[in-house]
Amino acid sequence: NRGLNGDANNNAEPELKLTGFVGFDSLPYQFVRRCQQNGFQFNLLCVGETGIGKTTLVESLFNMKMEFAPCDHELNTVELRTRVLDVAEGGVRVKLRVVETAGFGDQLDKEKSARVIIDYINSQFEGYLKEELKVKRNLTKFDDTRIHACLYLISPTGHGLKALDLLTLGELSKRVNVIPLIAKADTACKDELVRFKQKIISELKAHKIEIYQFPIEDETVRKENSALNALLPFAIVGSVDFVTKDDGRVVRARRYPWGMVEVENEEHCDFVRLREAILRTNQDSLREQTHNVLYERYRRERLRQMKMSDGDAGPKMMEAFAQRQKELLEEFQKSEEQHQKEFLLKVNKKEAELKHHEDMLNIRHNEIDSAYQHDLKMVEAQINSLLEEKAKLESKGKKRLK
Ligand code: GTP
Repeated sequence: NRGLNGDANNNAEPELKLTGFVGFDSLPYQFVRRCQQNGFQFNLLCVGETGIGKTTLVESLFNMKMEFAPCDHELNTVELRTRVLDVAEGGVRVKLRVVETAGFGDQLDKEKSARVIIDYINSQFEGYLKEELKVKRNLTKFDDTRIHACLYLISPTGHGLKALDLLTLGELSKRVNVIPLIAKADTACKDELVRFKQKIISELKAHKIEIYQFPIEDETVRKENSALNALLPFAIVGSVDFVTKDDGRVVRARRYPWGMVEVENEEHCDFVRLREAILRTNQDSLREQTHNVLYERYRRERLRQMKMSDGDAGPKMMEAFAQRQKELLEEFQKSEEQHQKEFLLKVNKKEAELKHHEDMLNIRHNEIDSAYQHDLKMVEAQINSLLEEKAKLESKGKKRLK
C-alpha cells in the first residue's frame, strides 16, 4: 500500500515487498526447464565466393563434418545448400541449420547473385508470417528457418570491398544480422590485416551499410561486446587438419614450411572470438534481433502490402486479412474471366478462319467437279457421235454386200 500511495502521482510501477515466501523465485528455473525441453534453433547463413573457405570455417566452428560438395565455378546461378543437425551440449538441445552459398560471385550479373540470397531470407520470413497469421498456429513447434546470423566472407585481397560485396552486403544488412569476416587471414600479415579491417569499416560506413553490432546495453557483456565490435571484421583462419604440438596438445591448424597457424590461437586469428561471440555470448541476442527488429520490419511491410493498418489488431487484423484474401480472390477471378474471354475470342477467330478455309475448299471442289462433268459430257457426246458414225458405216457395208 505504501508503494501504491507513494507512486500514485508519477505513474511509476509500485514495488511491493512480500512478507513471506510465495515461490516467485522459481520462475527462472521454470523458464530454463521449458527451454531445455523445447530446445533451441539456430540458423546460420554463410556467404562467400567459391573456394573462399566457407565449409572449412563452418566445420571448424562446429567441430563436425558438413559434407558440402565443393563448387566448380560452373553454376549458372547461385544455389543454397543446407544441412540440418541436431546437436546437444550439457543437456541443451540445439537444432542447427547451416546454409551455404554455392557459385556466389561466379556469374556476371551481380544483382542476380544477391537476389537469390535475399529471396531465400525473405521466404523464411514469409513462412513464419504465414504460420503466425493462421487461426490455429503452433509457433513453439514451428520449424523456424529464419536466418539468425550471416557470416559474410571477404576475400583477403587487401584492396577493400568488391562491387559484389558492397551490393550484397547492402541488401543483406537490411534483412539479416551480418557479421563480416576476412577469410584466409593467414595469407596476410598482421599490419596488413589491421589496415584492411580499417578500410573495410570505412567503406561500409561510406556506403551506409550497417553490419551487426554486438549489444552493449547489458552491463554483464558490455566490455566483451565492445571489444568484439572493435575487432570487426573478424580475421579468420579455418582448417580441417590437426597437428600435434611439442607439448603433446593436438590443435586445429594449418601447417606451412615456416611454421603453423593455429585456428584456435587468439594470437594468430579471431576465430575463437567469433565462435564465442556468436555461439556463447550473443546467440540469444542474435535470435532476439532477428525476431524483434528484422522480422518485425518484414512483417510490417508485408501487412502494409496487405493493406492492414496499425488499428487492425486481433480479430480486426484477421478481418483485414480475410478482406485482403477476398480482394485477391476477386482479382484472381477477374483475371481468370479475362483470360477465358481472350481464350474464347481466340477460339472463335480460329473457327472463323477454318470455316473460311472450308468454304474456299468447297468452292474449289465444286469448280473442279463442274469442269469434270462438262468434260465427261463432251467425251460422252464424242463417243455417241462415233457410235452413230460406226452404225452408219456398218449399214452402208451391209447394203453393198447385198
Ligand atoms: P566451395 O563450397 O567450393 O565454394 O568452397 P568453400 O568456400 O566452402 O571453401 P572450402 O572450405 O572448401 O576451402 C577451399 C580451399 O581453401 C581448401 O583447399 C581449404 O583448405 C582452403 N582454406 C579454407 N580455409 C582456409 C584458410 O583459412 N586459410 C587458407 N590459407 N586456406 C583455407
